[in-house]
Order: sequence, then structure tokens, then C-alpha cells
Amino acid sequence: MNLPNHIAIIMDGNGRWAQARGHSRFWGHIRGAKAATRTIRSAVDLGVKNLTLFTFSTENWKRPEMEVNFLMHLLSRQLKKELKMLMENNVHFSCVGDISVLPKHAQKALAETMQATKDNTGLNLVFALNYSGRQDLLSAAKEFALRAQRGEVDPHSVTEEDFNQWLAGSERPHPDLIIRTSGELRVSNFFLWQAAYSELYFTDKLWPDFKHDDFLAAITEFNHRERRFGQTGDQVARTSDSMQNDTL
Ligand code: FPP
Repeated sequence: MNLPNHIAIIMDGNGRWAQARGHSRFWGHIRGAKAATRTIRSAVDLGVKNLTLFTFSTENWKRPEMEVNFLMHLLSRQLKKELKMLMENNVHFSCVGDISVLPKHAQKALAETMQATKDNTGLNLVFALNYSGRQDLLSAAKEFALRAQRGEVDPHSVTEEDFNQWLAGSERPHPDLIIRTSGELRVSNFFLWQAAYSELYFTDKLWPDFKHDDFLAAITEFNHRERRFGQTGDQVARTSDSMQNDTL
């Protein structure tokens, strides 16, 4: 089986999962956090190299304060609880998004997890936190403008590769496969630039119900897709390595 080098997941449906069972949305987030841990384990077992989980978007701040606080405490608690598992499985943890505005307890838990796992060489696990694709593009555009102002880059010759390096997580390959749960057919301001050639996979499963078999089903579907990167099907068949050509 051809494993995607980078899988990114929009974990959606915690609230609906809980409400359908007569519970508060918070219960759905707790079960969602368990599903995240399960999926990290699945990625390790399958040998996936990069996994990004869209954990908190810049738009999620608009939720009721109590829910935001709950999500931030759940994040801190979950990181502390799963550190042993991350270490045992050689998982390297990092973030994309502006974490400097997260509550201090969450920043501390994130910093400790990043520090503890920094030399691990297995799965690269990335949490997108206070992240949005538009913010990412805007901050890269600002970086570009500042460099141009200082005369460090020539606006007329700036390339996609140049621009890409100013985006969050640019040291990682772009996602080959983006999974979204809960039946919503949107990318919701996730990786906008990075998703240019990603295969999109949507499932009706609500995130707390997402299990190893669902992860495998997404990867199996990915294997049936023909990735052409703008070429014809015949060209792709002739150059088997063209699958890896999304080099940005
Ligand atoms: C979606 O459900 C999910 C989020 C708010 C982001 C993901 C958060 C988790 C999976 C919980 C914490 C995870 C970790 C790793 C600590 P929703 O509330 O949007 O669901 P709804 O669309 O049914 O309302």
C-alpha cells in the first residue's frame, strides 16, 4: 500500500456526537481527544511519517468562553497524559499557528511536550492551534513585504519556493491526504496553500467515532486516486516517480 507521506485531519463532529447522546458538547470533546490519541497510535502503527491534527482554529475563539477554556484545559491535560505514549513511540511533536496567545498553562504543556520529544525520529505529529490558512498566508505575505522593503528579495523574481518557506510548518511536506469527519464538505480555512494538490477525503463518521478502520479506509481510497499534478494520466503512468513531485 502507498502510504501518504503527510496526512492532515480536520477533526469535526464532537459536539453533534455528544448532543445526539444527550450529553453536553464537552463530553464530545473528551471523546474527541481519545479519538485523537487513537489516531496517533494508528499513524505510528502504519508507519505514517507526518500527521497534522487541526486542533483549534483561529475562528474557534468565537465559541462560548466556557467551551474555549474547556478545550484549552483538555489540550494541556491530554498532552501531559500522553507524553509517555509519545516517547514510547518515538513521536516528534510540534505546532503550527500562533500559540503565543494561548493560556499560559497550555503554552507550558506545549513547550514541555515539544522539548521532551525534540530528538524523536518517528512520526512527526503536528497540532494546528490557533491556526488558519488565511492568517498563515497573510503572515507569509507580511514577511515577504518586509524582506522586499529591506531589499533582501526582489518582488519580480520571488518564487513559489521562496514564498512557501515563510508559511507555517514549511519544513514538512504538504499534505498528500486531508481527511475531514462529520459529513461537512469544506476545508474551513485549514491549509489553503498547502492543500493545492492534497487528495480530500470526507467521511460521515463523527470524530469521536473515528477508528483505525476508518483511517485505513481513507488511506485505501487515497491509493485509488490518480494524482496527476497537472499532467495527463498517460504521463503519470510513464513517470512513476511523478507522485512525489509536489516538492514545495
Ligand atoms: C470539532 O468538533 C472539534 C474541535 C473543536 C477541534 C478538535 C478538538 C478535539 C478533537 C478535542 C481536543 C483534542 C485534543 C488533541 C486535545 P465540533 O465541536 O466542531 O463539533 P460540531 O461541529 O458537532 O459542533
